[in-house]
Amino acid sequence: MKILITGSAGMLGTDLVEALRPQFELVGIDRRDVPGAGIPTHGIDLVHAEATRACLLKERPALIFHTAAKTAVDSCESEKQDALNLNVEMTRNLIRAGNEVGARLIFFSTDYVFDGTKKGEYTEDDVPCPLNFYGETKCLAEKAIQAEARRFNIFRVSWLYGLHGRSFPRTILQKAKEVRLLKVVSDQIGRPTFTRDVAQAFLEMLTRQSSAFERAEHQTFNLANDGTCSWAEMASAVLKYAGFDQVKVEYVDSAQYPLPAARPKNSVLSIAKIQQHLGIRLRPWQEAAREFVKELA
Ligand SMILES: NC(=O)c1ccc[n+]([C@@H]2O[C@H](COP(=O)([O-])OP(=O)(O)OC[C@H]3O[C@@H](n4cnc5c(N)ncnc54)[C@H](OP(=O)(O)O)[C@@H]3O)[C@@H](O)[C@H]2O)c1
Repeated sequence: MKILITGSAGMLGTDLVEALRPQFELVGIDRRDVPGAGIPTHGIDLVHAEATRACLLKERPALIFHTAAKTAVDSCESEKQDALNLNVEMTRNLIRAGNEVGARLIFFSTDYVFDGTKKGEYTEDDVPCPLNFYGETKCLAEKAIQAEARRFNIFRVSWLYGLHGRSFPRTILQKAKEVRLLKVVSDQIGRPTFTRDVAQAFLEMLTRQSSAFERAEHQTFNLANDGTCSWAEMASAVLKYAGFDQVKVEYVDSAQYPLPAARPKNSVLSIAKIQQHLGIRLRPWQEAAREFVKELA
């Protein structure tokens, strides 16, 4: 089976390439040309509909993992047109070209489609109501997929971090080399998720769970590591795993740490449906974060 991965040089894209390359024929699309990625990669801008279409007609993938996006949440507030182009128009281009070649489109969405006011975990049936423009654009992309894509799935992931990109735990470990006190927000709760675990979950879905995955077309799933924490708790954990005993974390409210984009207080996605339908349950976030720290070192 041929699989096309958009954003193949990005954080999640790189881990998907690593996990799936041994068993599947892969082809990548990214703006950046990454030498040594180990798969043929088209260096095209997916905002260009014709280039996207030509690439899909040439490659004719059975499956498209669409990870490419404008993921800098705060920049989306000031660069709204770019956010719309990258997160919505780019997705529309893939929907149209994907329909033409009969590919199943796997779209990566986010916990930030919710406003965080719910008491309890967000299920796939909860109605999105984003607080920030990034969430708004991912929500518009979800709607476009549901309305126009013939074959698709939406996977909502949360608080991603990985070895091949910029992320919260990486920033914490960098700052820990420079300061003795880190102020970190403690009133936003979520499920930190290791991109390597997301990639392994897809390998599982495409191999051992392939019949269930076939049946699950058109469904939305939440996919995140087990367990919940605040950003401050995650910072404390990664500092401990990395042996930064002398660096302290001061727990602060978001109000004391204003950012251009508002974030939901409750970002916890329910992970029950994916376990029930696809047999996927990711390990606790602490285990995954420990592995991340070890590998980073
Ligand atoms: N990161 C998170 O915490 C998080 C949380 C929830 C959901 N998600 C979603 O999960 C997915 C993967 O996130 P990620 O953090 O792995 O993303 P990422 O590291 O930012 O990777 C995205 C990749 O797509 C490329 N790209 C962007 N625009 C493109 C275009 N027009 N044409 C071709 N390539 C383009 C980027 O290239 P450049 O580097 O040149 O831009 C980058 O290599 C995204 O859909 C994101 O919305 C992420």
